[in-house]
Amino acid sequence: MTVVDGSLHYCTRSTPGARRGLSSPRSRPLASRPSTTARSSSGRRWMKGLVGRRPKRTIGELTASTIEAVQRSNELAVLSREHHIALELALRLQRTTDADAKSITRATLDFWRTEGREHFRLEEELLLPAFTRHVGAGDADVVRVLIEHVDIRRRIADLETGRIDVAALNALGETLRDHVRHEERTLFGRIEETLKPEELAALGTTLHAAGAKQQPPRA
Ligand SMILES: [Fe+2]
Repeated sequence: MTVVDGSLHYCTRSTPGARRGLSSPRSRPLASRPSTTARSSSGRRWMKGLVGRRPKRTIGELTASTIEAVQRSNELAVLSREHHIALELALRLQRTTDADAKSITRATLDFWRTEGREHFRLEEELLLPAFTRHVGAGDADVVRVLIEHVDIRRRIADLETGRIDVAALNALGETLRDHVRHEERTLFGRIEETLKPEELAALGTTLHAAGAKQQPPRA
């Protein structure tokens, strides 16, 4: 995933072909990535965005690339797509001032109710248990994710009270950004490397089925 020209982009890869490429760097500089769906020199398929098109929402003012391009398996694409939206929201939260605090609060609660809460549930009930079957529940990355979920849930609950607090919004933005980066840069890569191909495929099927039930559709 990366940020360029005001948009966030992901590169997805499929398994088990992707597994054969684990010796290759998981992240590549954006300049080396084709601008549209194509095959790299290694034969791996790259796609612009999660589903081959620009995301619906963009951050027009953002120009600096702050997130490395990450190859992501199709199995976890449902969750990565929501990370994409969460990172956009995180930036808006970090930049919130008195002038837009009310609208950002509303947008944050809307995201939480329509996407975020269910996203957390899928990670806690499906993703992490599948991973801990291999690494144990005490794994540092698993523990970190769960602690941050609790912290973000508390911060969202504070927003639900209706009190507008710019400092709290800014802090939530930083927390959300760091949380998503950790999942994308560290946790998801470990999961893709650790789960057996059939386990990852089954997880992907379940996640996609769950994602398809969401309204609006996660496409
Ligand atoms: Fe997540």
